[in-house]
Amino acid sequence: MGKKAVHAPLMEALIRYRTQGNASFHVPGHKNGQVYEHENIASLLQEVMSIDATEITGLDDLHHPEDVIREGQELAAKCFGAEESFWLIGGSTVGNLAMILTVCTEPGDLLLVQRNVHKSVLNGLMLSGANAVFLDPEIDTLSGLAVAPTTDTIKAALKAYPSAKGVLLTLPNYYGMGHDLKATAKACHAAHVPLLIDEAHGAHYGLHPRLPASALSCGADVVVQSTHKMLPAMTMGAMLHVQGERIHRELLRQRLAMVQSSSPSYPLMASLDLARWYIEVYGTDAFTVGLAAADAFRKGLEQLPRFRLLEPTQQALEGEYAHRGISEVLERADEGISGYSTQDPFKLVLYDTWGILDGFGLKHELETYGCVPEMSDEKHVVLLFTLGSTAKDASHLLQALVHIDNDIRFKETAGEPGATEKEQQRLELDFSTWNNDRMKGYSSPVPFGLRPISPDQMDTVPVDESAGRVAAEMIIPYPPGIPLLYAGETITEAIALRMSRLRELGANWHGVADESMLTIRVFRLQ
Ligand SMILES: Cc1ncc(COP(=O)(O)O)c(C=O)c1O
Repeated sequence: MGKKAVHAPLMEALIRYRTQGNASFHVPGHKNGQVYEHENIASLLQEVMSIDATEITGLDDLHHPEDVIREGQELAAKCFGAEESFWLIGGSTVGNLAMILTVCTEPGDLLLVQRNVHKSVLNGLMLSGANAVFLDPEIDTLSGLAVAPTTDTIKAALKAYPSAKGVLLTLPNYYGMGHDLKATAKACHAAHVPLLIDEAHGAHYGLHPRLPASALSCGADVVVQSTHKMLPAMTMGAMLHVQGERIHRELLRQRLAMVQSSSPSYPLMASLDLARWYIEVYGTDAFTVGLAAADAFRKGLEQLPRFRLLEPTQQALEGEYAHRGISEVLERADEGISGYSTQDPFKLVLYDTWGILDGFGLKHELETYGCVPEMSDEKHVVLLFTLGSTAKDASHLLQALVHIDNDIRFKETAGEPGATEKEQQRLELDFSTWNNDRMKGYSSPVPFGLRPISPDQMDTVPVDESAGRVAAEMIIPYPPGIPLLYAGETITEAIALRMSRLRELGANWHGVADESMLTIRVFRLQ
């Protein structure tokens, strides 16, 4: 790998700060870690604390950048293809909030929003008091996973709601599935609205020929990326990128200042500076080792045909389930083409073609062999490789799968009664925690706001009997953090069933009133 001379202005300023060793008469209270000097328990953190500075002379100010932070952000904009980039120290979460608060400025402003979005988007709608018209995402017929709305759906919604302030989509999805956004951007711009993209999972897009194009390069106006997810920044380190005239930049700055701490973490910001520096120093070579690791895993998996990876092609179907004679799956797949055209080569979505281990079970087994996946759903396990992954990681993972495959507990028993029936049942499920209920195009406007629901407006009912009622709380399986329900959404049979199934499969939940998920809060019937 050839090394270029590239600056990381904030990182360099922090190294100077540490070397100078000036006496601190300022926050933070740990005084560059001095407090913990003799405490073994803190030794790991002490190194970090030695650069955990604040807005003193020479270290600039995130909310009024004039020096090293400004330079770092400008370099980031250049690297990621934006006109202007903003470092985020609260993850894509704050980026999504700021993006919505910038575009929806009056209560009741209307935003077209893909339904299967991260909870931060729904929280942004609540904060801004916006009305959302939800857009139905395409479902990939083979995997059953929701991707994003088609351009046709977006065009139809834009036509029906010409007062919309913008269109907000999430691409790629948690599974690395996506499609080219150029046509969508063009449709939005023809309707004079900005395209807002939650690209939390695609910070690395466009940085290597094998990676899909970035949302910015497709024409999106504002893009939020979790640099900490797919690039090497520290957790919570993210970026918001803007281009063009459709976004009110001054308002955006104000909104960012509103949702971000006035004491942003310097190690975190430095890690953003460093992640961009690393990409610039090594260029596409930065991805060579990680991609080779993912490829080695793919290749090794050919020796274990029981386990398959999702691919955005029909070829994946060939042989798939066919030997098991499940005509329904073939029929479904026959009618459809993949609901997506791009797949992140770093996201490997694995499943057991025998249907014996569901996604949660497979994840658990991998963990017992020391391999910790990113997440699982009813069928799949998402294995996240990055530029930091190695051939050793790939080999460890393959070994784990060999063990699982050999384990008698997970062997298919020939003629096992009910095996086909069991699989059939699984296939009837709408597979993903990522999916919501189908809407046929787009919804009517849904008002969001912050007014709490008072106890006398609510009843608590068994989840299994909740169909037909209106949810009075957000129900969020986590990961991926896509609300199955928001407060005010009618609970359909399918969603009630999904909640029960996810509960049985041991899914994790965020913020639910009853953590056992046996009951749910609903609006009291009038
Ligand atoms: C699609 C999507 N958007 C936004 C977020 C929030 O990102 P962060 O964790 O960086 O705040 C997530 C988190 O998983 C996500 O999956």
